[in-house]
Amino acid sequence: MASVREVSGLKIPAHVPADRVVDFDIFSPPGVEQDYFAAWETIRGGPGTGLPALVWTTANHGHWLATSGELIRSLWADAARLSSKVLAVTPGLGEVMDFIPLQQDGKEHHDTRMAMMRGFASRYVMAMEPQVVDVARELIAAIRHKGSCEFMAEFAEVLPLHIFLTLIGVPVEDRIRLRPLGDQLTRPDGSMTVEQLRDAADDYLAPTIADRMANPGNDLISRILSEPVGDRPWTADEAKRMCRNLLFGGLDTVVAMVGLCTLHLARHPQDHALLRDRPELIPKAADELIRRYPTVSVSRNAVVDIEVDGVTIRKGDIVYLPSVLHNLDPMCFDEPAKVDFERGLTPMRHTTMGAGAHRCVGAGLARMEVIAFLREWTSAMPPVRLDPDKPVAMRGGNIGGITSLPLLWDVPASV
Ligand code: HEM
Repeated sequence: MASVREVSGLKIPAHVPADRVVDFDIFSPPGVEQDYFAAWETIRGGPGTGLPALVWTTANHGHWLATSGELIRSLWADAARLSSKVLAVTPGLGEVMDFIPLQQDGKEHHDTRMAMMRGFASRYVMAMEPQVVDVARELIAAIRHKGSCEFMAEFAEVLPLHIFLTLIGVPVEDRIRLRPLGDQLTRPDGSMTVEQLRDAADDYLAPTIADRMANPGNDLISRILSEPVGDRPWTADEAKRMCRNLLFGGLDTVVAMVGLCTLHLARHPQDHALLRDRPELIPKAADELIRRYPTVSVSRNAVVDIEVDGVTIRKGDIVYLPSVLHNLDPMCFDEPAKVDFERGLTPMRHTTMGAGAHRCVGAGLARMEVIAFLREWTSAMPPVRLDPDKPVAMRGGNIGGITSLPLLWDVPASV
């Protein structure tokens, strides 16, 4: 047990210098309900900011927090010294979820990840596009005539869930069964513990997994499960934890991204018009919006002592890495807050999808989903605007995002 000292009644490990101690709660950065991005700017550190690039926050049982873009990116890529076993700063959450491949390290991670990467090969992702387009069209058709909606509940939270179910080959009627579970995954109301949520997801997925292991089809899960893990087949337990990772990793993240793309278009109707008139710009626009609106932060546990930024991260310490402070760091990107569809950066430069060994295996699928959404949204919907009487609401946490996005539009005459 590391020795601790007390500063203002708070227990601080002895190896943490006093000038690194802050009180910053990653679940509720100051002002996050109004603006996730502005809230995180309050803790930006590194050269020229007056704050160190690595601080120790006393919130959430105490953990390191990297605050400069360069340090975030380099620690994120350091899988040899920083394990992802811990999953989150919330005690016990890692043990409950036990995700594959997210919480694996070394060869174990390499072998399951390779099987998944083959299942997510770009030719398969492109083959899924017509199904994603169908889902987006169906949802747009359901709201287009209304002239207003709360976009998160009525669209953004439904789209990835329906896409997920379609891609794993679950019948359309089953969407209704999974919807309450999807709601709990993306908008937990406290009525289920994380264990109950995990078990409900596992129970829901179990028959599909068993069926796809016995009778592989053309769906995503069949493709991944028919790829070997190293030189052997997937075990049933691994298949369960992998599918759990897909479900928990591929919903909230896409919900947040679709919400933020739509918020951007509502605030910049000229971009809506541009993408409608020049749809060939949409792939580049998707890449830039994905860079500009990062909401995923990850937690790592040090497996050795690490000397960095003039301090020691002790073996066992947790380090928190927010992609928002990397992608919007002016030391890493020119005018980072500006959305420039011609920026032309490779998606590997930013950390919306992570960096290094654990970089998102669903990145190609997510990009395709965002492209398909932007194409359908800008072509079928008139420019939308924010409802002046109802505020946009956001939230912090490991996957930040929008909780309420009230939109208005003039119903097209053709509807
Ligand atoms: C815009 C949407 C998405 C964002 C922003 C996103 C972000 C991320 C990030 C930052 C990581 C790295 C986590 C880490 O380093 O600890 C990650 C990993 C992962 N993501 Fe995504 N993701 C998205 C969509 C998806 C989708 C659609 C799926 C699958 C259906 C998916 C499945 C996964 C999996 C399985 C991993 C673990 C990879 C590994 O550990 O090797 N993600 N994602």
